[in-house]
Amino acid sequence: MSCMSQKLSPESVPSAGEMPMLGLGTWQNDDHDQCADSVQTALEMGYRHIDTAQMYRNEDAVGDGIAAANVDREEVFLATKIVPSKLSYDNVIASTRDSLDRLGVDYLDLLYVHWPANEYDPEETLSAFEQLYNENTIRSIGVSNFEPEHLDRALDAIDAPIFANQVEMHPLLPQEELREYAKDNDIELVAYSPLARGKVLNEPTIGDIAEKHGVSGAQVSLAWLREKGVAAIPKATGEDHLRDNWESLALELDDEDIRKIDRIDTVDRQIHPDFAPNAWD
Ligand SMILES: NC(=O)c1ccc[n+]([C@@H]2O[C@H](COP(=O)([O-])OP(=O)(O)OC[C@H]3O[C@@H](n4cnc5c(N)ncnc54)[C@H](OP(=O)(O)O)[C@@H]3O)[C@@H](O)[C@H]2O)c1
Repeated sequence: MSCMSQKLSPESVPSAGEMPMLGLGTWQNDDHDQCADSVQTALEMGYRHIDTAQMYRNEDAVGDGIAAANVDREEVFLATKIVPSKLSYDNVIASTRDSLDRLGVDYLDLLYVHWPANEYDPEETLSAFEQLYNENTIRSIGVSNFEPEHLDRALDAIDAPIFANQVEMHPLLPQEELREYAKDNDIELVAYSPLARGKVLNEPTIGDIAEKHGVSGAQVSLAWLREKGVAAIPKATGEDHLRDNWESLALELDDEDIRKIDRIDTVDRQIHPDFAPNAWD
């Protein structure tokens, strides 16, 4: 499997197993009808990658949005994540069934370990993921918020491939080390909070480049991630933001733009819960 680049054309619908570079995030989109509506609007606009999690408590709304959209389930790359308190072997198996029920689907394209915390144990947790992978309930195994030390142990724990690591990444947190690790070990990176939850829009370099191309700062951030070979899952609720982000696929940054963004020296991590890896302290 590999990341595919998406163009703004209908023939870019991915075949099963491929992960579209631009997806839709749904964290805090927790009004049922609003969430279902965002998912349906996104799919009908062309999005084919939807990201949710047990923790977001909106899998049923995401499922309703997928069911309502005029798009076949097989065309959608659907990812969810197991909450850290359900990472024992039996809990992974049981709670995956619950997620499938809530989402109204019979397989997942990608299932992540949400955080290496609480019940997470590399061998026990990931052997349950491997079981789900071998029985084709999940098409790929993902981890999230993993640092290189966690990835080392995860890769040793099972024979099945670790397909993706979902981490916070944007121009204010460029994740050089994890990008290098991902490249060396054939793991896809998926950028969460790819707009730094709105902070990139206030960054002057991003503003200058946006102005030069006549686009939004959000598009610049998403195009920069794509240029780095990293998939992005911006959360957007209404049609305007959904469309603005979708149109980032048409934006080609030049080498000078990329160099300027790479030189931004402000570091601003947005997500840092108590159970985050020690490496972030
Ligand atoms: N694995 C993890 O631990 C983890 C952690 C955090 C997030 N995530 C995933 O990553 C997704 C995205 O991250 P995020 O939600 O934290 O932050 P984000 O995508 O960086 O930013 C979302 C915010 O930006 C706004 N926005 C979206 N498009 C915009 C545009 N074109 N112009 C201006 N503002 C725009 C949204 O507003 P509206 O809603 O009003 O459109 C929302 O307030 C999440 O939804 C979730 O699926 C995963």
